[in-house]
Amino acid sequence: MASSLHLLLLVSVSWISLLALVISPAQAATCSSQTFKNNKLYANCSDLPFLSSYLHWTYNASNSSLSIAFVATPSKSEGWVAWAINPTAAKMAGAQTLLAYKTEDGAPVVKTFNITSYSSIVPGKLAFDVWDVSAEFSKGTFTIFAAVKVPKDAASVNQVWQLGSAVNKTSGFPVKHDFAPPNLQSFSTLYLMANSTTGTANSTGGGGSGALRIGSGGNMGLLSVSVLVLGALIAF
Ligand SMILES: *[C@@H]1O[C@H](CO)[C@@H](O)[C@H](O)[C@H]1NC(C)=O
Ligand SMILES: *[C@@H]1O[C@H](CO)[C@@H](O)[C@H](O)[C@H]1NC(C)=O
Ligand SMILES: *[C@@H]1O[C@H](CO)[C@@H](O)[C@H](O)[C@H]1NC(C)=O
Ligand SMILES: *[C@@H]1O[C@H](CO)[C@@H](O)[C@H](O)[C@H]1NC(C)=O
Ligand SMILES: *[C@@H]1O[C@H](CO)[C@@H](O)[C@H](O)[C@H]1NC(C)=O
Ligand SMILES: *[C@@H]1O[C@H](CO)[C@@H](O)[C@H](O)[C@H]1NC(C)=O
Ligand SMILES: *[C@@H]1O[C@H](CO)[C@@H](O)[C@H](O)[C@H]1NC(C)=O
Repeated sequence: MASSLHLLLLVSVSWISLLALVISPAQAATCSSQTFKNNKLYANCSDLPFLSSYLHWTYNASNSSLSIAFVATPSKSEGWVAWAINPTAAKMAGAQTLLAYKTEDGAPVVKTFNITSYSSIVPGKLAFDVWDVSAEFSKGTFTIFAAVKVPKDAASVNQVWQLGSAVNKTSGFPVKHDFAPPNLQSFSTLYLMANSTTGTANSTGGGGSGALRIGSGGNMGLLSVSVLVLGALIAF
């Protein structure tokens, strides 16, 4: 009796250690198994903490250049994905944005948007140099490739990312994204220097919720909600 209890205990303990063994490698980043059609390699990658998105990057300090591949899957294939650096704040307001979607002929394109506030989303030049921009779309997943100039000797940059389910085909503007918690928490610090491993959000919380309202046509209720949250920084 006692010995069979012993055996049971032993089996449970081994089972638990086995589980632990199986689980810890599973914490290895998903991004490390992602590869690109153009065989481009990046020095670093991280699984971003929200929206099942991934950032691959190579930082070249001597050129202050950051080469990235941003991988994300919108809920619909006619949707959009976006990755931004915000040079002035943590979240959406100020985000210098690279946004990918599929045009009518199915080809993925990348547009740049200067997002000053939730009501000012202007296509055009960003606050820093951007080059080697392209996008891929495969099995519902977009990859945005780009190289950007970051401030000289920057230790980190504020990154913001987002997904949306549709693009206005007439205007080429992204339709606003959901406002579920992950959509409002999808920002973090990307540490460029070696001593921090991955970019992790250190959100102060503060109930900061916000709405990325793209385009017009909001009703008064939405407008007043937007005005209410305007005081808080707006999550992308
Ligand atoms: C980094 O940038 C410098 C200056 O443009 C260049 O000479 C060097 O080859 C780059 N390093 C890598 C690894 O690309
Ligand atoms: C260095 O940065 C410039 C843009 O500022 C870019 O044109 C050039 O390709 C970069 N060189 C490297 C090696 O990344
Ligand atoms: C982005 O928009 C703001 C406000 O309109 C403007 O002050 C800023 O110069 C713009 N940035 C770029 C790079 O055009
Ligand atoms: C798409 O954009 C056009 C032009 O800005 C606008 O007239 C139209 O109402 C928009 N469509 C939708 C569904 O929002
Ligand atoms: C990026 O990868 C390089 C080369 O493996 C490594 O030395 C460096 O510490 C990494 N940087 C970060 C921020 O993890
Ligand atoms: C990492 O580097 C930053 C400055 O770049 C420094 O403030 C911080 O103490 C360093 N952290 C560790 C653990 O070395
Ligand atoms: C996160 O923020 C808190 C409060 O501002 C600070 O005390 C803490 O050191 C930060 N942690 C990291 C990893 O930056």
